Amino acid sequence: MLLKDKSAVITGAGSGVGAASALRFAEEGAHVVCADIDAGRAEETVRRVEAVGGTAVAVACDVARESEVAAAIELAADRFGRVDIVFNNVGIPTPRLGSALEDHTAEDFAALVAVNLGGVFYGCKHAVLRFKRQGGGGVILNTGSVAGLVAWGGSVYGATKGAVHQLTRAVAIEGAPFDIRANALCPAGMPFTGFMAAGGMGEDPQTVARAAASTAANHPLGRAITARDCAEAAVFLVSDRAVNITGVLFPVDGGYVAK
Ligand SMILES: NC(=O)c1ccc[n+]([C@@H]2O[C@H](COP(=O)([O-])OP(=O)(O)OC[C@H]3O[C@@H](n4cnc5c(N)ncnc54)[C@H](O)[C@@H]3O)[C@@H](O)[C@H]2O)c1
Repeated sequence: MLLKDKSAVITGAGSGVGAASALRFAEEGAHVVCADIDAGRAEETVRRVEAVGGTAVAVACDVARESEVAAAIELAADRFGRVDIVFNNVGIPTPRLGSALEDHTAEDFAALVAVNLGGVFYGCKHAVLRFKRQGGGGVILNTGSVAGLVAWGGSVYGATKGAVHQLTRAVAIEGAPFDIRANALCPAGMPFTGFMAAGGMGEDPQTVARAAASTAANHPLGRAITARDCAEAAVFLVSDRAVNITGVLFPVDGGYVAK
């Protein structure tokens, strides 16, 4: 029970990394607010958490809207008494996976910045405000990407993730005197979540299997990355076992960036 009685907010908890993390956080004893733009999916995650004996509540939240992010964090305080962990996990892909820089429209650019960077900014801001108001520190985890560490995965998408990494380090330094930690999880390509499907890959099992084989071949460890791999790293980074870890960009990539 690494997170016993901790109160956590996870954005994008309706699918992929967010859903897997909600389950793992709850299994470790946390009470979880599952925030997602798709309320039905967030409710489905809550049902899965409850099925394993955990406590969770769903909330509809578009992370590109500051008031909705603030409300999700305040919901955790109302339901669970305080907020210990804010996991800003939402990210959207390049609208047409594989698009070159010059193929992005101004609307593509604006959407990627609003959700991937804006959502993390609002989450960090309102986490810090809440942590300072209640006292006793707190933990922020942001989902970055290997696409913010090397030039892979889309130019504008990667730029938003590079910005998330820099924001994470800045929040870590500003927050340290208040015992607020901030780290970023940097996954490599995960073909089994909804992310690549949202980017236009679709959900045909053969296409997904081909994408899994191709990403696995890029990784020195030879395996595709799963949402569960990220959830395990997330549990560690938000737990007290990581009490002296802050400002870290933590790849979950089978060794891809090290290569
Ligand atoms: N899957 C990959 O290949 C990959 C690789 C590296 C990093 N990442 C990052 O991992 C994170 C999680 O991705 P995933 O693979 O679990 O994706 P996913 O598509 O499975 O899940 C994303 C969830 O976010 C929700 N969402 C989308 N826009 C939202 C918004 N504006 N407000 C609130 N919720 C919103 C979706 O409804 C969905 O439930 C993202 O930050 C993504 O950029 C993914």
